[in-house]
Amino acid sequence: MVVRNALVSASQTSVMRAAATAAPVTKSVARRFVGGETLVDAVETAANLSAEGLHSTLSHLGQDVEDEAGARAAVGVYVKTLEVLQTADLLDRVDLSVRASDMGINLPDGHNIAAANIRALAAAATDAGTSVTVDMEDYSTVAATMDVFDEVFAAYPTTGVVVQANLRRSQVDCQRLAATPARVRLVKGAYQESTDVAFPTAQEIDLSYVRALKMLMAGSGTPLVATHDPRLIEIAQALAVRSGRSRESYEFQMSLGIRPEEQKRLAAAGAKVRVYVPFGSQWYPYLVRRMAEKPANMTLIGRALIGRT
Ligand code: FDA
Repeated sequence: MVVRNALVSASQTSVMRAAATAAPVTKSVARRFVGGETLVDAVETAANLSAEGLHSTLSHLGQDVEDEAGARAAVGVYVKTLEVLQTADLLDRVDLSVRASDMGINLPDGHNIAAANIRALAAAATDAGTSVTVDMEDYSTVAATMDVFDEVFAAYPTTGVVVQANLRRSQVDCQRLAATPARVRLVKGAYQESTDVAFPTAQEIDLSYVRALKMLMAGSGTPLVATHDPRLIEIAQALAVRSGRSRESYEFQMSLGIRPEEQKRLAAAGAKVRVYVPFGSQWYPYLVRRMAEKPANMTLIGRALIGRT
């Protein structure tokens, strides 16, 4: 964990970032995990996934948002994404994932700004026949993001939200959300949080995931089972059967480039599988986080960082 954290923070310095971004090995690794730098690349990736029977969710990786104009620009990228998806006739296969930070939640008066932006996006997505899911970031923004989600969801009920099973509050969130028709993406949680608010061990996080999954599967919404963990996937399938759910009433979700054969296997077996496709110019920090999640990936990114291509 210490090595992982050191590598992730070293990789974020501008010198390291510039060197690694330009290295051919980084670009070739990035092609596996990132849908491309441009919207056209991302839509092409979504079209390729669709041809393999997979749904996708597009998430834009842009510059950090520093003011309202930046947040409006982020909304603009997603609106344009909807237009391009419409032209490509992919709206029945592709939806959008957005970060509240990109929608302005960390700005002064962030709640109102982010709520207005996500509401506008949810309206555009609903008109186009698809939906928006609100990603969940670090703990300091979770309560505020959930408040914004609640507000948007009341007006646009196809809007989805992420619950992080590593957080102690996840049980309460799931209990509440399971009583609604919400699309709830259940993840283990990608951020390191204090033990005051989060479970410290992998085993506790897995148990929390299963408890949350039970509530969501038994509930009236759409569980979005976002994990690559084979045991949790099996448990989700068993719970879906136990709850009498149709295969259309829940989804498996995985990241682009991670366990792609399993994605195809599940889809071929009749499950609805959606692939998270990040795209945009700021792909490098995302790539480093995904690489750092699995020890075997470290060699690849390490070679890129020292310029050994
Ligand atoms: P776990 O990490 O235990 O991995 C299980 C197995 O999957 C591993 O043994 C390995 O085989 C494979 N695997 C997992 N990650 C890999 C990698 N990077 N490279 C290679 N193999 C890998 N988090 C968050 O906090 N907020 C959010 O909004 C989201 N959104 C989100 C959407 C979607 C669609 C997914 C799939 C994930 C997220 N996450 C997230 C990330 C999530 O919280 C979690 O960090 C990752 O999914 C990894 O956890 P797993 O459940 O896959 O289990």
